[in-house]
Amino acid sequence: MAAKGRWHLWQAGTFGRLAPLAGYLWQARQPSPTGIFAARPTVAGAHALLWETVPNPVTHEDGNERGFSMLRIGLLTSGGDCQALNATMRGIVKTIMNNTSDEVEIYGFLDGYQGLIYNRYVQLTPLDFGGCLSRGGTILGTSRTPFKLLDTPEADGVSKVPAMKKNYKNLKLDCLFMLGGNGSTKTANRLAEEGLNVIALPKTIDNDTYGTDLTFGFTSATEVATRCIDDIKTTASSHGRVFVIEIMGHKVGWIPLYAGVAGGADVILVPEIPYEMDNVIKAIEKREEDGGRFAIIVVAEGAISREEAAMPKKDYKKLVAARVKPSVAYDIAEEIAQRTNREVRVAVPGHTQRGGQPDAQDRIFATQCGVEAAQACLSGKFGIMIAQRNGKMCRVPLEEVAGKLKFVDPDGELVREAKLLGISFGDE
Ligand code: F6P
Repeated sequence: MAAKGRWHLWQAGTFGRLAPLAGYLWQARQPSPTGIFAARPTVAGAHALLWETVPNPVTHEDGNERGFSMLRIGLLTSGGDCQALNATMRGIVKTIMNNTSDEVEIYGFLDGYQGLIYNRYVQLTPLDFGGCLSRGGTILGTSRTPFKLLDTPEADGVSKVPAMKKNYKNLKLDCLFMLGGNGSTKTANRLAEEGLNVIALPKTIDNDTYGTDLTFGFTSATEVATRCIDDIKTTASSHGRVFVIEIMGHKVGWIPLYAGVAGGADVILVPEIPYEMDNVIKAIEKREEDGGRFAIIVVAEGAISREEAAMPKKDYKKLVAARVKPSVAYDIAEEIAQRTNREVRVAVPGHTQRGGQPDAQDRIFATQCGVEAAQACLSGKFGIMIAQRNGKMCRVPLEEVAGKLKFVDPDGELVREAKLLGISFGDE
């Protein structure tokens, strides 16, 4: 199932049926073509097609004879989902269709890298992306394929990397667009090193992808988290309670930081700034002294005390594994309740932060990522991740970014401003 790019549509619309029809019939009997950049129809070529009932076959670099070149793209969404995955894929597909005269085949791998490993895919047409701009989740499904297990065979003995290479090659893909976060980007880099044409797009609600100022998913998740804080505030105020709200972010605290500031939290605890419980208690007491009936403590999933941060990593991991309560917010809430004698409740919006529709900014950024990725593909630029730096879309080499995280800077601007506003990070 191939769809056609710009010139073909133009021909059909402007010059009637005959020449395009002949082109279609002629294509139908062509051997399966490979490679997209060997020969691309030019404007002159397109005109030639219009006036010849049967275009002259051309011998391409790969030895195949054909009149149109073929672009075969693969799409996959990997890791935790987010609201703007479909919007991003729509951006890629629309831009490609609008800017190439090639025939285009679109393969959507199901459930992330699992689809590529097991050759499970659907062939898509541009129509499949209708309505995708505002549709959360991912039409392809997703899964986590941990990078550290990449060279460990699957339970059924399948070797992941060789299987992915084989399936990519069998489908004669020209490019694989991978929408994923850090771990997924590492895998993308590995596939690029193995010779596959890969373009990674920076997906994650966590905004922790190194090399880009923004990731798609972040603003929508921040919006959900902020709304959660807003909603909790009204009930917290009615009852005069302290609420501990746990926001996603195991290793980094971008969402807690942004949502905490946007929601007017009194305390924000992020993994990058280890806290001292004495300081948290001080902040709650000050809020009370200042006349506040309630207090909002935003904690990242990975909020860590100074004492815990000083532990060897493996001891800390053991401590977390041995936790009896469901998550860090409950431990913190219990300690606050004991030390302040206040009524304390916990709220965990959890995966709602990844759910629902993308917000307007996410739709725009996802679209920009899609456009940039498609342009890179059409110009034969692979082994890259799409990024935004200082408000400008750009491409960064995968090997420069893969495996690195972008952390909240404890001395960064927003942290500094939040502190000036009186928000406590539990560190002073
Ligand atoms: O990576 C995004 C993220 O939502 C994190 O913020 C969160 O800690 C984690 O995924 C949750 O993972 P899972 O969906 O596997 O429960």
